[in-house]
Amino acid sequence: MIEVENLTKRFGSTLAVDTVSFTVKPGEVVGFLGPNGAGKTTTMRIITGLIYPQSGTARVNGKDIWDEPVDVRKLLGYLPEATPLYDEMNVMDFLGFVATVRGIPPREIAARVERMIEVCSLQTMAFKDISELSRGFRQRVGLAQALIHDPPALVLDEPTSGLDPTQILEIRRLVRELGKEKAILFSTHILDEANKTCDRILIINNGRLVGEGSPHDLAAMASGETIYSLEFKGDTELLTEKLPDHFKVTHSRPGGEGYTGLELACSDPADHSEELFDLTVSVGGKLRQLSRKEATLEDVFLELTKGGEA
Ligand SMILES: Nc1ncnc2c1ncn2[C@@H]1O[C@H](COP(=O)(O)OP(=O)(O)O)[C@@H](O)[C@H]1O
Ligand SMILES: [Mg+2]
Repeated sequence: MIEVENLTKRFGSTLAVDTVSFTVKPGEVVGFLGPNGAGKTTTMRIITGLIYPQSGTARVNGKDIWDEPVDVRKLLGYLPEATPLYDEMNVMDFLGFVATVRGIPPREIAARVERMIEVCSLQTMAFKDISELSRGFRQRVGLAQALIHDPPALVLDEPTSGLDPTQILEIRRLVRELGKEKAILFSTHILDEANKTCDRILIINNGRLVGEGSPHDLAAMASGETIYSLEFKGDTELLTEKLPDHFKVTHSRPGGEGYTGLELACSDPADHSEELFDLTVSVGGKLRQLSRKEATLEDVFLELTKGGEA
């Protein structure tokens, strides 16, 4: 898994990344959503060990970028914003070359290359020079090189940018498939794309994380609602019945040890935490967690939805 802790990176007077912390677990596709210049690429380049932060750190499967940068790189597959490909090589030769550089034993290389050609649907392009490939195929070669050493974590920087709609759907499908096992951080500046591809979304703006949640939560927050999440033990039906009208249950799931995790959207911006607490007590239940996420995302959402590439 990927852990990022209090990362801060300055370029001269530009604070590109400002005390950013988050984690990405195995089996999770986390969207890194923010307008251009928000700090997505910088964060990703730090995680992949290409640049160092002024403070904070990142770890992949417990290996720290400061202490074990070589191990971190082995555990990661990285698709940079502009894929560096060797134009004069054909696809097979290029993937074989990358496999060698990544330290895959020679007797396994042919099989790995075959597998990547299959996974990334590159069969028709295997013997074409990279310079001849369309943008969509180049991107798939980029993904193939990121995946060839079968890393447990993937960092994909705007992998669908510049692709046509069919190619976008294919890349998203592949990412979701890979995300069943791997920890994936997927950056995009398109809200709709993050919603469709990711299990969880982190919103970054001006170098700071300004929101986090499921696609559903974020949609509610963008519309000005506040989200309360709580873990409740007791008569959930009675609690739901007694909820005042400004609350709406948006999500309910088992929370373990007899608790139910509930997400409530509240149309009133005032803090209703006390009211919720009193209500859970009044129905004879127990509460072990209660948090409130404010709708502070309007500006960022405006930025993200005011056009640009689809
Ligand atoms: N190598 C660099 N030198 C100077 N400024 C940079 C450099 N890389 C990024 N920046 C600045 O840092 C900020 C964040 O950039 P970036 O991480 O590329 O954002 P994003 O990927 O979200 O579009 C921007 O203001 C950008 O101009
Ligand atoms: Mg970028």
